[in-house]
Amino acid sequence: MVAMRNEFEGRTALVTGASRGIGAAAAVALARAGCARMLIHYSASFEAAQETARRVRELGAEAELIGGDLSTEEGIRGFVDSLGGRAREVDILVNNAGSLLRRAKLAEMSYELYNQVMDLNAKSAWFITQAVAPHMAARGAGVIVHVSSIAARTGGGIGATVYAAAKAAVSAFARGMARELAPHGVRVNAVSPGTVDNDFHARFSTREMLDAVVRQTPQGRLSTNEDIADVIVFLCSDAARNVIGQTIEVNGGMFMI
Ligand SMILES: NC(=O)c1ccc[n+]([C@@H]2O[C@H](COP(=O)([O-])OP(=O)(O)OC[C@H]3O[C@@H](n4cnc5c(N)ncnc54)[C@H](OP(=O)(O)O)[C@@H]3O)[C@@H](O)[C@H]2O)c1
Repeated sequence: MVAMRNEFEGRTALVTGASRGIGAAAAVALARAGCARMLIHYSASFEAAQETARRVRELGAEAELIGGDLSTEEGIRGFVDSLGGRAREVDILVNNAGSLLRRAKLAEMSYELYNQVMDLNAKSAWFITQAVAPHMAARGAGVIVHVSSIAARTGGGIGATVYAAAKAAVSAFARGMARELAPHGVRVNAVSPGTVDNDFHARFSTREMLDAVVRQTPQGRLSTNEDIADVIVFLCSDAARNVIGQTIEVNGGMFMI
């Protein structure tokens, strides 16, 4: 009997923001699915990134750490530079790094914070894709998954409007990049988490806010990092071969479209 080849065998994946949360879960899930090599991006959380690498290696994949603050143009350029020749080796790109950074209502938003939120959540996804996608297109194969947010559709909670706008840009990138790259064999989609029970909301939301979300959620719970990571793996898999330019909402039914 001929052994079935694992579709992820030999694949190199780059996951940004893979030190913690959804990104760490995605790196581990992709390694478990059979990816051979994981490029683990991190910024402030070096030790957590080392832990992701340890878990990835335990699953039999190679792991390399690449640092970089993506909240400034200089930092994005520096990260792209430090990718170097590895940019041409990426088969799967997960643009996950992102953050609200700080809640700020209309009058409280500074020019500096506006730029940081936009650079981290939107500009970084654009320019990292710019560095990687031409090599995928030249090979006629590749998969890109952006991480958007339910905020892209709702406009975000109080003080999260600019973050929501950045995520709306990410969802638009998924459609526009998909249209440009699909003829070259590269699939682009986005996953849009609702409210994930992780550091993100531990930092930016109160327990009362999270309990209110649970009450509004048909499934009766918050999402987990793994709930989102599994959909990322699906979007990277051949099972999603005809899924192009979509933003998949993953939120336990809290928000339906
Ligand atoms: N949690 C939610 O409910 C939720 C909902 C919708 C969308 N999302 C999106 O999902 C993605 C992952 O978030 P998460 O929930 O996993 O949050 P998280 O646990 O706070 O993790 C955020 C990740 O992004 C990285 N990051 C943060 N600031 C960065 C910076 N300045 N430069 C480079 N990397 C930076 C972090 O790296 P370091 O720790 O190494 O700095 C970390 O790996 C984000 O794009 C977020 O907007 C989350």
